[in-house]
Amino acid sequence: MPSDLPPTLGDAASDHSYTPELHRATGTAPGKLILCGEHAVVYGQPAIALPLSGIRASAHITPMPSGGVRFDAPDLARAWAMDDAPDDPLCQLVGEVLHAFQIAAPPAITITITSDLPIASGMGSGASVATAIVRALARYTGRTLAPAQISQLVFENERRLHGTPSGVDNTVIAYEQAVWFVRTEDGAQIEPLDIPAPLLLLVADTGVRSSTKLPVGEVRRRWQHDPAPYNALFSQVGDLALQARAALCAGDTRTLGPLLDQNHALLQQIGVSSPELDRLVLAAREAGALGAKLSGAGWGGVMLALAHPARAAQISAALRGAGAASVLRTAVGGPPEIRL
Ligand code: PMV
Repeated sequence: MPSDLPPTLGDAASDHSYTPELHRATGTAPGKLILCGEHAVVYGQPAIALPLSGIRASAHITPMPSGGVRFDAPDLARAWAMDDAPDDPLCQLVGEVLHAFQIAAPPAITITITSDLPIASGMGSGASVATAIVRALARYTGRTLAPAQISQLVFENERRLHGTPSGVDNTVIAYEQAVWFVRTEDGAQIEPLDIPAPLLLLVADTGVRSSTKLPVGEVRRRWQHDPAPYNALFSQVGDLALQARAALCAGDTRTLGPLLDQNHALLQQIGVSSPELDRLVLAAREAGALGAKLSGAGWGGVMLALAHPARAAQISAALRGAGAASVLRTAVGGPPEIRL
């Protein structure tokens, strides 16, 4: 993945003479979970990320008689116009997409955004909404974009939101595929992962909203102040990610579980867990989870528990009893016919 957005997206995206049409267009995108490696991935260690295809953000484009680009986010009771909010990250995203499509005059449209994903919860809400918008705009203007092109546009959006994203969120969401992701000097090494046996995950929300930027910024400050211990922690996370990949791809959940536990312990030492996350992780383990950890940037948001199907109801009840605002049950991987 190149680190800077190309001035245009090349032939696939620009080989059109654009004429606004009175049609509607929709784009959607999944949420995501980081199974292993968050935070360390910002510093060049590998991470494993999974798409959550059943939990999505959507962007619906409706043509308007006049007035440029408007946004409507009914879930947030918010509506705004691109002309009035040039610094708004989503307005900047639309500006970049139109630029990449070589469309000089913004069309008169309303982009209505809806999402199943709680904001600031570690499930990739920001990257998912941005991906849905890019897909809707591509459909509306008759472009076909490859996942890598969508990912690159969303990465720029992540940069505006978080400063120093690794690129893992935009990648797993734009490709909608389980990935092994390593940030490199000039982009990223991305490998699709084939997960032979379905993983049953329970995802519990602490109900505490935590914007990615804050813990990521705090970890950077601590790392800059005292790099050696943090580099050691990041490299231990990287070793765990390697072992987790082997267990995941062998369908060996009994080995994977304790690796998730160890990843949580390292995230505690990195300083991004919270009492609410620790309480849910402990409750899941005591109820028989194979392993449990926070997922995403931390300080709030969600945790995940790897569960044997026979234990799922018990773990789910324990998570609710320990204060989870919601518990989601999802299966990732396995043969296509038994995917949820
Ligand atoms: O909390 P989320 O969903 O934004 O995940 C952030 C993942 C981090 O590794 C903490 C940051 C990054 O850019 O990879």
